[in-house]
Amino acid sequence: MPIAKRARGGVSASLLVLPPIALLLSACRGTQSALEPSGPAAAEIALLWWVMFAGSVAIFLLVLILLCYPFLRGSEKRWQLSPDRMIVIGGIVFPIVVLSALLPYGINVGYGMNAAVADDALSIRINARQWWWEIDYIGKGSRLAFSTANELYLPVGEPVELILESADVIHSFWVPRLAGKRDLIPGQTNRLVIEADEPGIFRGQCAEYCGESHALMAFFAVAVPADEFADWARQQHNPQPAETRPYHPGAVLFRENGCGLCHAVRGHDALGRTAPDLTHVGSRLTIGAGLLANTPQNIALWLAHNNELKPGNRMPAYRHLNLGDRLAIADYLGNLE
Ligand code: CUA
Repeated sequence: MPIAKRARGGVSASLLVLPPIALLLSACRGTQSALEPSGPAAAEIALLWWVMFAGSVAIFLLVLILLCYPFLRGSEKRWQLSPDRMIVIGGIVFPIVVLSALLPYGINVGYGMNAAVADDALSIRINARQWWWEIDYIGKGSRLAFSTANELYLPVGEPVELILESADVIHSFWVPRLAGKRDLIPGQTNRLVIEADEPGIFRGQCAEYCGESHALMAFFAVAVPADEFADWARQQHNPQPAETRPYHPGAVLFRENGCGLCHAVRGHDALGRTAPDLTHVGSRLTIGAGLLANTPQNIALWLAHNNELKPGNRMPAYRHLNLGDRLAIADYLGNLE
């Protein structure tokens, strides 16, 4: 541990440690950084983090000063820090005071993740699966308005209620820049309030080990202004026009290969509910839950090699289809906007 070694050198040496830490922290920016919050709950969590960081730095420096004090002041000064008094003050009183202040503060920040929302607030049910996110937008009367996958659209400036469920194992929903982290547990319904206070694309990631492709269980939260969100929701709500289907060779291959048994394409007789809803897959940024950019080449690659790209996923590999056929399916799907 290089930091521990330097600390023995005293207070001045500890100052040498700080610039590299500051440099490291300055790298903590980007689409998935809890230190660059873009929502009220995330801002409170970031502030809590900085308070704890500042406190730990102050305590670290205090310990170094106490450590150096007897060595710098000669042997008679050592007795001023008698073991009994140090244990009572440093080991009992000090932690009780610090933790008594930190605990209610931390609990209060946690309650912020679960704040009350207006009765007419947007409600979205997220059903986590190995290894993707089913995202159901709830309309009036708690009825399903439409279902999408791996992409969470949010209107900027509105608290949105997420209803979190899991179909198989425990997952954890986390968009570090927008809100706290909350588990999705089979047989239990959890709740999380999320809000973006600026437009942007924020990466989210499953934060609980859930199997071999846990690290590949990502998604994007896309925050857009309210009017843009309304347009998006209207478009997602619409089924695909039925007349476009019979004329597309990719649509014929999609039907012949039984893709509609697992996937849904509303308007095109594909009603599967065990795999991502593809009704508007062409409008999404990625495929494979944040894994690949949504391009025809990547869809064709995924169709044949999804088990190498995402080990253990439940979709069969369609290796028997030649590249031309796979690109035809990709073209059909890419046009489902
Ligand atoms: Cu889902 Cu880790």
